[in-house]
This record gives sequence, C-alpha cells and structure tokens, in this order.
Amino acid sequence: MKIMKETRHIPVLLNEAIAMLAIGSGNTVVDATLGGGGHLIAFCHGVVPGGKVIALDVDASALERFRNRISDNPDVQTMFEDESLVLAHGNYSDLGGVLKQQGVAFVDAIFADLGFSSDQIEDRERGFGLLQDGPLDMRLDRESEMTAAMLLHSSSVDELRHIIREYGDEEEASRIARAIIRAREERPIETTTMLREIIENVYPAAKRRKLKIHPATKTFQALRIVVNKEHEHLKMFLEESVRYLRPGGRLAVITFHSGEDRIVKHFFQELSRGCVCPLGFPVCRCGKKASLKIITKKPIIPSVDETNRNPRARSAKLRIAQKNP
Ligand SMILES: C[S@@+](CC[C@H](N)C(=O)[O-])C[C@H]1O[C@@H](n2cnc3c(N)ncnc32)[C@H](O)[C@@H]1O
Repeated sequence: MKIMKETRHIPVLLNEAIAMLAIGSGNTVVDATLGGGGHLIAFCHGVVPGGKVIALDVDASALERFRNRISDNPDVQTMFEDESLVLAHGNYSDLGGVLKQQGVAFVDAIFADLGFSSDQIEDRERGFGLLQDGPLDMRLDRESEMTAAMLLHSSSVDELRHIIREYGDEEEASRIARAIIRAREERPIETTTMLREIIENVYPAAKRRKLKIHPATKTFQALRIVVNKEHEHLKMFLEESVRYLRPGGRLAVITFHSGEDRIVKHFFQELSRGCVCPLGFPVCRCGKKASLKIITKKPIIPSVDETNRNPRARSAKLRIAQKNP
C-alpha cells in the first residue's frame, strides 16, 4: 500500500492546546496521537533547545506519512536525526512501556487528540467513511484482529443493540440491530455501502428529516469505538499519564463525542478530589490525596472562526489538568 506524503488533517484547537500546556525549552513532551503531526510540529518548536518530544500512533501509516514529509521542516528533521524527536508505533494505553523503552521516567506535558484523522477517514480502504464505498474494516491498528465486518458477523441482536445504543447514543438502536441480523442472514455485510443502506432503509423517515447528520453516523461511530476498544484504551492512557507526569506537568485531551468526554471529565474530577471520609470524621482515615488540579473548569471549544474553517472541529472539547506536587 502506497502512503501519501501529504496530510489532509487540520489540527484542532492548536493554539489553545499549545498555550494551555505551557510548554517551554528543555521540556519533555508526549504527543500520544501523532495523526497528521500538526500539534507535534508545534511541540517540537516549543521544546527547543534541549527538549524532547515522543510521538506515538497506533496506526503505522500515520508514522510513515509523517516520516515521508519530515524533510519539509528542517528543525523537526534535525530533532528526528539527533533523536530528540522519537516516533513510536504503539497504543497510548501502553504509554509506560513506550517511555520505559526510551529511558524516560517523567515528562512535562502529555497531549492526546482522540479519534481518527482526516487521512484515515478519506482513505476508503480503511472503512471509516460512511459515504465512500470500502471494506467494513475500521481498525486504527491494522495489526489488530477484529474488523467491523467481523464484529457485525459475530454479535447477537442484543449485543448489537447495546453497542449501537451505548457507544453511538442512537435511539433507533433496536431497529438497526434487527435489520443487521436480517441482512446478514442473506449475505455477509462486508462493505460500508451495505451497512449504510441497511440503516437508511430502516430509519424512520420522519425522524430522518429532522436529523442534522446522516442516519448511519452514530452506528458507524459505535462500531469504530468497539472495534478499537477506544474507551478501554483511553481509561488506561489517563491512568498511565498521571503516573508519568512530573509534578506541575500538564495533561491535555481533545475529545470529539460525549462518551469519551465523559470519561476524561470524570477521571479529572475523581483525581482532583482529596479526602473522601464521611463528613464528621475528626481526622482523615482514607488517606486519599488529590493528584490532579483541573485547569479547565469548563472545556475549551473551538471558535466560530475555527469551525467555519474546519467543520471537523465542531464537536471538539479540550480539557486540561495539572499534576499536583
Ligand atoms: C485526531 S488524530 C490526531 C491529529 C493530530 N493531532 C494532528 O494535528 O494531526 C488521532 C490519531 O490518534 C491515533 N490514535 C487513536 N487511538 C489511538 C491509541 N489508542 N493509541 C495511539 N494512537 C491512537 C489515530 O490513529 C489518529 O492518527
């Protein structure tokens, strides 16, 4: 497979993320989601001289695409050559493993921009885009085993209903799950077009007229989340991040839908809460200390100008927390 040199991805909330992470010369920074490298390039400029940036992506083609265009940016290329920029293929849930491999014990800032990039959506072979015909794949890591087609084939109607409702927030989950089962009895559902048409055919017309998105959007989102175990990996990543942040270091996460934003919000709230002893206890017995301070009481969202320039930024939310001493 030939990897394009260019990226189609426009970084979201770039200035806001850079400013809030308070990155400076000599810092060590993790970009847990390289994608098109938009944020990464800004991190590289922010840590020179003397700093280090470690970037990872679970999708090997994102790394290859970035390597192919590294010479476009001489400062970044210099960092790559002297190994102060490290590009690693890995899942952010294994952040600790990646950092150990690099001999890094603590970092000053960690950043994650969740989900998928425009490069992935626009590559029909990946099966993320519901409006382009392609295999029903949806794996971010092409070395992982389960594709969306396999998930559709192996799940019961109850499992499908649960997946579509829980991860897609789709009110028509039951109707869609039953239609999938009926369709797969006739022939395997192997392409994005097949799945999209199954959903279009059963979606109530009156409801459809009121929708601002395609009726298959939420089902596609749900399948992608489950195929890639996105929520499980996100929870592990957040735990790992707190472990490896230096006191005073910051963690910034950009989310794109309510399920993942809830996970980040609750994690920050939980770790920013100190003693949980019942009211009236004269002294603390639980010993719980707040390990994070929330920097963004409300998430930062893109300006109207940004969403006009880049409609994919529409649902983005940036949350930042700082590790307590
Ligand atoms: C929204 S894009 C990042 C865009 C990037 N910040 C930029 O400005 O170009 C998300 C990237 O995260 C990667 N990704 C998603 N889940 C991941 C995981 N669990 N571990 C590592 N990378 C992941 C995807 O493969 C994708 O390339």
